[in-house]
Amino acid sequence: MSVNTPEPVEYESSVNIQSFLTFFIAITLGLLVAVLILPSWLPNMAFSLGGNAPKAYWYLSRATAFVSLTLLWLSMALGLGITNKMARLWPGAPAAFALHEYVSLLGLAFAVFHAIVILGDRYINFTLLQLLIPFSTVDYRPFWVGIGQLAFYTWVILVISFYIRPVIGHKSWRFLHYASFGMYLMGLSHGLFSGTDTSAGWAQNYYWISAGSLLFLFIYRILASVIDGLFPPKKKLSQPPVPRTAQG
Ligand code: HEM
Repeated sequence: MSVNTPEPVEYESSVNIQSFLTFFIAITLGLLVAVLILPSWLPNMAFSLGGNAPKAYWYLSRATAFVSLTLLWLSMALGLGITNKMARLWPGAPAAFALHEYVSLLGLAFAVFHAIVILGDRYINFTLLQLLIPFSTVDYRPFWVGIGQLAFYTWVILVISFYIRPVIGHKSWRFLHYASFGMYLMGLSHGLFSGTDTSAGWAQNYYWISAGSLLFLFIYRILASVIDGLFPPKKKLSQPPVPRTAQG
């Protein structure tokens, strides 16, 4: 009697590679033009946005930083929900997978915004090269900003890995995916140690809730797989073929 062995579940990517690249390139170029080129072409418009000491870029960068970290948190929570099987209760594994990927893409877009818009801030005064090269922002917390830059590049690699999964295979993809834990920790510590808002009560509550809830899901995931190992769920036996009824 044969036994059904479940194949690793493969889900279609929810956003195709062309749409992803178009979106990614458009947001990057649009922001670079807005932050680096427009102020010299249209100085009056740039002045009306921020005056002599434009803080608007700084506020925008800080706001999008938290949006990006929150989307990363949500993507991690959905991913853990898929592996610890909580997602079966809600919203279902395929929907959780699609959301997990989509939210990660959106979070990366906000991280791009967060990083590029800070180029407009005259106090931090980063150059484009410093933005691209980890640990090179000598005048502003190079180590912790560098950790944020590493988190960003890891994020790019993980997003690309969604698209090359058929090429690298499911096992390598899963292995690569474990880097997301390191990425989240890097994003979290980067925010904690380079952010202006860290000393604010709301920001500290935010960081505790973000890290604490993921730790809970992570421990639940480990316990679920230990319990599955100790008491393996009974595998369904394959149904014997239903005999055809003779018709005429
Ligand atoms: C190229 C990559 C990155 C660069 C250059 C960068 C740069 C910075 C800088 C300069 C600050 C300090 C801003 C301030 O408060 O004055 C900061 C804060 C922050 N960043 Fe990033 N970052 C990068 C990637 C990321 C990523 C990937 C995340 C999310 C996962 C992130 C989340 C945050 C958070 C939450 C803060 C704290 C904001 C605050 O306290 O107001 N950053 N980043």
